Amino acid sequence: MWNGVKAAPEDAILGLTEAFKKDPRAGKVNLGVGVYKDEKGNTPILESVKAAEKRIFETQNTKSYMPIAGEAAYGDEVQKMIFGSLCDRSATIHTPGGTGALRVAAELLRPFSSKTIWVSNPTWANHNNIFAAAGLTVKEYPYYNATTKDLDADGFFAALEKIPAGDCVLLHACCHNPSGVDLSAAQWKQVAKIAQKNGWSALVDFAYQGFGDSLEADRVGVEALLASGIDFFIASSFSKNFGLYRERTGALTCVAATPADAETAMSHLLATARVIYSNPPAHGGMIVTTILKDKELSKLWRSELDAMRDRIAHARAELAAGLAKRGVPMDCSFMTKQKGMFSFSGLNKDQVKFLREEKAVYIVGSGRINVAGLTPGNMGFVCDVVAEAMKR
Ligand code: LMR
Repeated sequence: MWNGVKAAPEDAILGLTEAFKKDPRAGKVNLGVGVYKDEKGNTPILESVKAAEKRIFETQNTKSYMPIAGEAAYGDEVQKMIFGSLCDRSATIHTPGGTGALRVAAELLRPFSSKTIWVSNPTWANHNNIFAAAGLTVKEYPYYNATTKDLDADGFFAALEKIPAGDCVLLHACCHNPSGVDLSAAQWKQVAKIAQKNGWSALVDFAYQGFGDSLEADRVGVEALLASGIDFFIASSFSKNFGLYRERTGALTCVAATPADAETAMSHLLATARVIYSNPPAHGGMIVTTILKDKELSKLWRSELDAMRDRIAHARAELAAGLAKRGVPMDCSFMTKQKGMFSFSGLNKDQVKFLREEKAVYIVGSGRINVAGLTPGNMGFVCDVVAEAMKR
């Protein structure tokens, strides 16, 4: 079967981690994959998660199948998190990670949309692969202006105006990956208005809730779309905000026109999940539900989430100041305005290659730096070598 077959390319992000692990050089730094590190360079299990796991360990009494949608309590907690309260014209299922949610949404878009999905240029590298694998046609809309290091607002809105009815538009709720450039509340309203007027739907990737400004402030886009009355999906991930990367804990929420439509949508969500993975893995969802349903654990978790966000903001400021101090040929203050885990540094492919080959510093080919991987221990070195790369 495989004789003469060309090997598949390595994954643009996870493949980097594999290459990094094999790199024998001392002092190597992995700023590729979007994983949070503490000041010591570890990806800790949150205390709130540990406490929830302890409770689950003591009380769980079966490993029987989960319902296809996951536990109802999980769906309710997800809705409260993404909307602020339950939404009766929506249906939520528990999915294996945010990627699982995106794939289920894509599977539903094939029969129930024009089969064309629009993604931002640039976007998370895996978006294209997920949608193409589900048989959708993937098209791009302009988003990032590399000169101003900001939103290409003219190009973006002009493109949205031309998207035909029945297509779907992938939007990043907050902490745009990879650019870190988010829409303002007014711009979200404009997006929602165009969607409503032109009849396209949206798929909102909500992988970083709480990493932008706060859990509540990061809902601004979802709130605008909800108010407009359009049909849309929300793909949630709890990899980052609960640090549950390997537990594959996510959710897909379908917002429909009416509660009755949401029920119909639920039947299709269930039928689709059943043929892809049958029913979701339990552990991560139980952790999230246990934390969100308990006042004390929720409080602890929120303080841990706030601490992660603050540490990243601090690291951003240090990176920008460190590069300025080293006299790089560009104003790096834009890095402190970007939201989320990443800094879209403006480094080009040759500079990224130089960093990896000559300095053992791994960042994504697009120039995306995982700021959450910068620590007091590697900051000085990273500033030195990034400055050297920028001056080349
Ligand atoms: C990233 O963008 O680095 C993360 O979302 C991890 C991944 O799966 O790519």
